[in-house]
Amino acid sequence: MDSLKKIKKPLSGHLAEFNKVFRTSVKSNTALLDIIMQYILKTRGKQMRPIIVLYSAGLTGKISPKTYRAATLVELLHTATLVHDDVVDDSYQRRNRFSINAIWKNKVAVLAGDFLLSRGMLLAVENNDYKMLEIVSRAVKEMSEGELLQIEKARKLDIDEEVYFDIIRRKTASLLASCFAVGAASAHADEDTTTKMYKIGENLGMAFQIKDDLLDFGEGDDIGKPTGIDIKEKKMTLPLIYLLNNADKKEKRQYINIVKNHSNDKQKVNLLTDRVKQSGGIDYTINKMTEFEKEAIRLLDTFPESESRTMLKEIIRFTIDRKK
Ligand code: IPE
Ligand code: IPE
Ligand code: MG
Ligand code: MG
Repeated sequence: MDSLKKIKKPLSGHLAEFNKVFRTSVKSNTALLDIIMQYILKTRGKQMRPIIVLYSAGLTGKISPKTYRAATLVELLHTATLVHDDVVDDSYQRRNRFSINAIWKNKVAVLAGDFLLSRGMLLAVENNDYKMLEIVSRAVKEMSEGELLQIEKARKLDIDEEVYFDIIRRKTASLLASCFAVGAASAHADEDTTTKMYKIGENLGMAFQIKDDLLDFGEGDDIGKPTGIDIKEKKMTLPLIYLLNNADKKEKRQYINIVKNHSNDKQKVNLLTDRVKQSGGIDYTINKMTEFEKEAIRLLDTFPESESRTMLKEIIRFTIDRKK
């Protein structure tokens, strides 16, 4: 059994309940939106965020209908940000299918993303889930800031390690952190516990985006979306930042020139990614990822042993071992 299946197994009934709420939440009477939502329902991802919400509730209390709403809320917002992200990154593939913008164009994708976002907000408001809404809204704000900071850095190409961590903390770790926190909040955990859960998720989220950035270097691998798109979009991720930090002045100028002026030239970009690999940038990045993984596990181990704790550890493992 692959590890994601193993992680999902103890949740089967709960995941089915979550899926019901999710399906209902994306219904629309507008014909075009309905077609797009059906398409999205056919192309579900790994569902890591709802899984985390459910186990986080299990770890700190009991899973309830509020937990299913929390899981739906984060998955709706996650899906919205992916639809928007593919517009931002000009990416044609998502979850092994065409992205929404590839089929219906950018304007439709922007509005479909807004629809998903508003459905999430309304689901929370209609059920008085204000605490959960607050946690998740903060993440959405952070995500927009993270993506914008990334665009700013792609223009100036003046990114260093600290800024890279700042970007991924905002654009990715904030939502994964809020998955841990809303799971706990849905189970009526106290403030300190919810904060600790947030921290676990933040560390896992950092590892998650570092892994995503490593997957982008896997030329020719089936990761369900294009590879090599980061350099093409002038996104400098940790392996490349490492190379730049360890190159001499002349080489550094040459590498920056490739990103700046030749990011569509396959041959030149290949040279650059080869250099990244030779420089030890990948190993360096894996080490950093492991540091975040260890911190997540350390914090998780402050909770007493339980099935939820074991499964959350499996999720951490999966985050850094995954092939997609
Ligand atoms: C992709 O997230 C976006 C990032 C934060 C890197 P996932 O890899 O969890 O996407 P799906 O939901 O499984 O498709
Ligand atoms: C994460 O960054 C995107 C979001 C936070 C929505 P990426 O742009 O690397 O994500 P993918 O690779 O497109 O999934
Ligand atoms: Mg992207
Ligand atoms: Mg990526």
